Amino acid sequence: ATNRTFTMIKPDAVKNGHIGNILAMINNAGFKIVSLKLTQLTVADAQAFYAVHSARPFYGELVEFMSSGPIVAAILEKENAVNDFRTLIGATNPAEAAEGTIRKLYATSLGENAVHGSDSDENAAIEGAFHFAGREQF
Ligand code: CMP
Repeated sequence: ATNRTFTMIKPDAVKNGHIGNILAMINNAGFKIVSLKLTQLTVADAQAFYAVHSARPFYGELVEFMSSGPIVAAILEKENAVNDFRTLIGATNPAEAAEGTIRKLYATSLGENAVHGSDSDENAAIEGAFHFAGREQF
């Protein structure tokens, strides 16, 4: 079925000048962009967005990194969007990401891994609503 996923181009990839190339890969893979903005998370925003990881040892580092600079937030639509997007971005750790994936091409490290992709339809809806009002979801 056609459904939606949520992505962020993370501060490392924005800083390194990869917004255009990553959006081109997303378009070329057949995703329709239904919401898009350049924004920056406050520390409190990043803590809330990643609350599910709050018990993890890397939580502090993750929050600091994700609030460290501008990001691109987007909602994407496609047949099988969540799973196909996770295939397009590759493994969480860029050292393990397949050739041709966004993380293989543009990620810096496990923590600074260029892009986020939702892990379920339910989380895609929650994460999309975190960043975009209903009238910003086309
Ligand atoms: P993502 O799946 O987008 O959201 C959770 C993030 O936590 C994940 O990307 C990684 O960037 C980050 N992460 C996961 N494991 C580690 C780790 N061991 N050290 C630092 N960051 C991590």
